[in-house]
Amino acid sequence: MKGIILAGGLGTRLQPITFGVSKQLLPVYDKPMIYYPLSVLMLTGVTDIQIISSPDDLGGFRKLLGDGSELGLNLTYAEQDKPRGIADAFLVGADHIGDDSVALVLGDNLFHGYGFGEVLQTNARDVEGCVLFGYPVRDPERYGVGVLDADGRLTSLEEKPTRPRSNLAVTGLYFYDNSVIDIARGLEPSERGELEITDVNRTYLERGTARLVELGRGFVWLDTGTHDALTEAGQYVQLLEHRQGVRIACIEEIAWRMGYIDRAACHRLGRNLASSPYGQYVMEITAA
Ligand code: DAU
Repeated sequence: MKGIILAGGLGTRLQPITFGVSKQLLPVYDKPMIYYPLSVLMLTGVTDIQIISSPDDLGGFRKLLGDGSELGLNLTYAEQDKPRGIADAFLVGADHIGDDSVALVLGDNLFHGYGFGEVLQTNARDVEGCVLFGYPVRDPERYGVGVLDADGRLTSLEEKPTRPRSNLAVTGLYFYDNSVIDIARGLEPSERGELEITDVNRTYLERGTARLVELGRGFVWLDTGTHDALTEAGQYVQLLEHRQGVRIACIEEIAWRMGYIDRAACHRLGRNLASSPYGQYVMEITAA
């Protein structure tokens, strides 16, 4: 399975901050936002990952993450010259996907929960059709919304409905089989001129091959789209890390625990950041 992190867009709701820096490079407490979705792909077992962003912002991601080899990853970069929609990721990333399946994650989505890695790995196995992840929210009208029947089968999908038929938001993490490229190629832009991810998912739904996995109470899915949401996400991470003494979305730790790099290599990465508590944490967990 290949991975794509979509990290473009204009970040208009976070202006003026986003005039000078990409939204997905902003800090969520102790690390850049993109570490969180990158961790999700790494925990899924995906190591060949393309980061898609605007021509202006791509350099910042490259500087931050390089070719990924230090983490045992293969990271590549591709430009989306304009925000043409989330589903445009499959057109920009078609060569990267090749004839494989793909996991797409939005660069501003933050997930956390016990056993998440196992949920991801189980659902990434032999994907036929698409796998969506749903999360109950108070304000479903702001998201893609899914409806399940009594047997847990997905029966409807709508993008930002004025009258949502459930409280289950479709999160920004999606697993697809290879036909997603052809589906994206056949899409018409929506009223707002974008290739909508919900239209892709609806095509799978019509074919009877869309599945939605509910992330329940044990999980957290956080928004980073407004000033308040961004601050609250940072506070959540801070509180959890202080209380538990572990770090969420520490990509060096995940690379080591997933077996992408060995303990000594992970320790060296920590040493490079030794002046920050983040680096000290990486050194501590890998101390011989
Ligand atoms: O976060 C989950 C939601 O993401 C889903 O529930 C919705 O179904 C889905 O449409 C999407 O809704 P948003 O309103 O959050 O989409 P937005 O246009 O804000 O794009 C989400 C992220 O993707 C944002 O950080 C910018 C990036 N993006 C977006 C577009 C349209 C790109 O990099 N390129 C694009 O062309």
